Amino acid sequence: MSFDGAIEALSNHALNLVKDKQIIGLGSGRAATALVKSLGKLVRENNYSISGVPTSLQIKVIAEKEGISLVEADQIANLDIVFDGADQIDSNKFVIKGGGGALLRENILFSMAKKIVVMADSTKFVKNFTRTVPIEVHPLARNSVSYHVKKIGGKTVLRTLDRGYPFFSENGNIILDADFGIIKNPKQLSVKIKSIPGVLESGIFLKKPNIIYKAKEKNKFEIL
Ligand code: A5P
Repeated sequence: MSFDGAIEALSNHALNLVKDKQIIGLGSGRAATALVKSLGKLVRENNYSISGVPTSLQIKVIAEKEGISLVEADQIANLDIVFDGADQIDSNKFVIKGGGGALLRENILFSMAKKIVVMADSTKFVKNFTRTVPIEVHPLARNSVSYHVKKIGGKTVLRTLDRGYPFFSENGNIILDADFGIIKNPKQLSVKIKSIPGVLESGIFLKKPNIIYKAKEKNKFEIL
């Protein structure tokens, strides 16, 4: 099932939130890519002076191709809106992110944003989280973090590339994907994960989106 048509349609709709001269956070992944392509068109057609703040090199490259002016997150203290995808969304509107490894920068932008807009297809919506939680970890803490995660009920796997080499984030860290089974208290779990020395970020984000777009079949979408 492809949700590409719905993602494109909802991206165009979400751009109604954007005004000239705003500072816009650009998430990473497929949904964010669709949004940035639509944003590029909006900027060109209306001659807007928008500044985009990328969460990864992946989205930076797309934004550059679209002719969107960019600023780095360290040059500003807050931003108007961040648009991003998600890996899973639970019934309390918590999100799991980090499937692409950009969780640290994505969560920084969530914290800076006056408005958070998340876009995801209907397969990612669950009552309670069921997928693994990406955890960004300093390489030196690989085994110690695994040990501590085990003590709080999780089983970690080192994220690797296709040929078995470890995946390194853009910040030079490794990612441990941690299986906690069904997660009934994501807030408590995220706090516990983030208290482990060597953990730089947990994929369970505690700041909830203001608007969630749900892509459905036949190019349809819903706003939550
Ligand atoms: C990147 O690290 C992730 O948080 C992505 O935003 C997330 O994996 C969603 O990506 P897609 O829109 O490609 O599914």
